[in-house]
Amino acid sequence: MAATPLDEHRDSHPDADVDEGRIDDLPDFSDFATHTWHAHDDKMSEVGFVTIARRLPALVGQAFRMAWEANPRDTVATIALNLLGGVFTAFGLLATTGVLEALFAAGPTPERVRAALPSLLLVGAAAVARSLFQAGAGWTQARLEPQVLRIAEKRLYGLTSQVELIRFDDSDFHDALQRVRTRGLSSADSVVGSAVDVLTALLSLVAAAGVLGVLHPVLLPLLVVAVLPDAWATVRGAKMQYATMLSLLPTYRRKWIVSELLADRETAAEVRSFTMRDFLLRVYDMVARLEQNVMMRLARRQTLTRLAGQSLGGVGTVLVYVALGLLLAAGSVPLAIAGTAVLAIRSGQGSLSNLLYAVNRLYESGLYFTDFIDFCAENEATTVVRGTGRPPDHFDRITVEDVTFTYPGKDTPALSGVSIHIDRGEVIALVGENGSGKTTLSKILAGLYAPAGGQVRWDDTDLAGVDPHLLRGRIAVIAQDHTRWPLTARHNITMGLEKGEEAVRNAAGVAGADEVIAELPRGYQTLLDRRFTDGQELSGGQWQRIAVARGFYRDAPFLICDEPTAALDARAEHALFERVRAHSDGRTVLLITHRLASVRHADRIYVLDHGKVVEQGTHEELITSNGIYADLYNLQARAYS
Ligand SMILES: Nc1ncnc2c1ncn2[C@@H]1O[C@H](COP(=O)(O)OP(=O)(O)OP(=O)(O)O)[C@@H](O)[C@H]1O
Ligand SMILES: [Mg+2]
Repeated sequence: MAATPLDEHRDSHPDADVDEGRIDDLPDFSDFATHTWHAHDDKMSEVGFVTIARRLPALVGQAFRMAWEANPRDTVATIALNLLGGVFTAFGLLATTGVLEALFAAGPTPERVRAALPSLLLVGAAAVARSLFQAGAGWTQARLEPQVLRIAEKRLYGLTSQVELIRFDDSDFHDALQRVRTRGLSSADSVVGSAVDVLTALLSLVAAAGVLGVLHPVLLPLLVVAVLPDAWATVRGAKMQYATMLSLLPTYRRKWIVSELLADRETAAEVRSFTMRDFLLRVYDMVARLEQNVMMRLARRQTLTRLAGQSLGGVGTVLVYVALGLLLAAGSVPLAIAGTAVLAIRSGQGSLSNLLYAVNRLYESGLYFTDFIDFCAENEATTVVRGTGRPPDHFDRITVEDVTFTYPGKDTPALSGVSIHIDRGEVIALVGENGSGKTTLSKILAGLYAPAGGQVRWDDTDLAGVDPHLLRGRIAVIAQDHTRWPLTARHNITMGLEKGEEAVRNAAGVAGADEVIAELPRGYQTLLDRRFTDGQELSGGQWQRIAVARGFYRDAPFLICDEPTAALDARAEHALFERVRAHSDGRTVLLITHRLASVRHADRIYVLDHGKVVEQGTHEELITSNGIYADLYNLQARAYS
């Protein structure tokens, strides 16, 4: 049996508590295996102090740049307020020494209290100032996070809607994109948040250490003794967490896939008609139980580690007090200073655990954030590969010359040496068997793919030098795999291009979309998505009528129709072809269809076979030459006679 993802993690993590007995019960789900979620496994597992420390500055730098881009003022404010908070923490601690000195001095109690008052006031003022600055820092930090997220989302989706269409046929691109969307994007704001948290904790730790250093140099090592056990326990706990998460990644993936199958609208019908419910629930339960057991065991081990850390921490604290006592007895440290030192050490302990927690979070989200940064950088660099020239407004002839095209990762070309031409006002048909390259050629003509070899010209203008975005504005496409946009019926036709009511109604009339819309409860304003309240669903053919209307609404001199009638009923199909044949709008039309009766009247027919043009001519010429076209045509005609 091929290694399933669960085998993988069993091997690589003998440490992980996986319930061995259950694994073999699981059905083989390796068909769902993707490696996306594994991207950071190695990095996660070798996580240690040194690795983290080495990556930290770069991460903080990236977080800072992102924050700066989102809002420079809030960024500066966050840092400045945190700094001030640290300063006043130190100041408050130092002022405490004054209080203690006065209290521990010789003399009657009321007098000592009076002497301590000015220092007490200072301590109070410092506490108020610190709280205010820290609250302010918290506010600006909270302001910063949503701004960062917005910037990150805008950058990502600006990019995904702009990269060359062909990138979407590349599986590596998909993996990277999926990773960025599921984890990378949400990590942008948490990276900034944790970077600030790291800064905050670091500053208070420095404040505590600085105070100890000022009070007496020998006190500094005491801080280290006091905080070390805690640091150890935290790092160990975090490593356990990572190792467990890592061992569970395949489990998560399975659970996620099965839960999608159980809860998605797309699969809901087949889950029922193939009575798959029991099977899926059984798989889900096995996987979920596995995860639950592992997590419960993790909780136990983490608690034990924490307990050990705290016991050691207790020993450390005792050591600190003993050392302080010895220093006091030897007279090298006055009582007031020892008192302040205890406070500073306690505050240092608190800051350290905050720091470790924040570093942990920063590191983890940093891994995914790096994905995001790399993805954006790489795709921004490769976006502008095509021309920037203005396309002609009109054409007399579109010429495709010797065009070659291969999809990424494929050995055989989808098109090889294809040459066709389309004159203004003509209706040109493209026919051929499934997979012969018709859609691919239409996408090249639509400016969606750039040919790998050969040329596409509008008169004398080579489209390679033309801005594809502008070119697409001159072309209307009724796509074979048209999208069912979750928008209103009106927007499904206008696609955001406003040309007035009459244009919408005219376009809707072409393939009978008007009849469909007339029956909708809110007419053109009906939302075409059943997942929303008041949303409506259409039948396959009704959707296709809308898609046809969408193509006709666009005022483009060149119209590409790829299987526009596959789902249409006979009447709607007839109406559409009548319209196309009558040249009623003076457009040039490229028509792709398997219904050969509809292409009889085309000005010229090209027959594609395995990516090559094998026949061309009018219907009569092709019938006479008795090739593939004649074969296919007669086959269909016989079925009707
Ligand atoms: N996105 C893609 N990635 C990789 N290969 C593809 C992709 N789209 C199509 N192909 C391959 O390219 C070839 C031509 O496909 P194309 O979609 O152009 O055929 P078609 O003539 O439109 O077929 P149909 O009549 O089924 O619509 C096929 O072998 C197909 O498997
Ligand atoms: Mg096709």
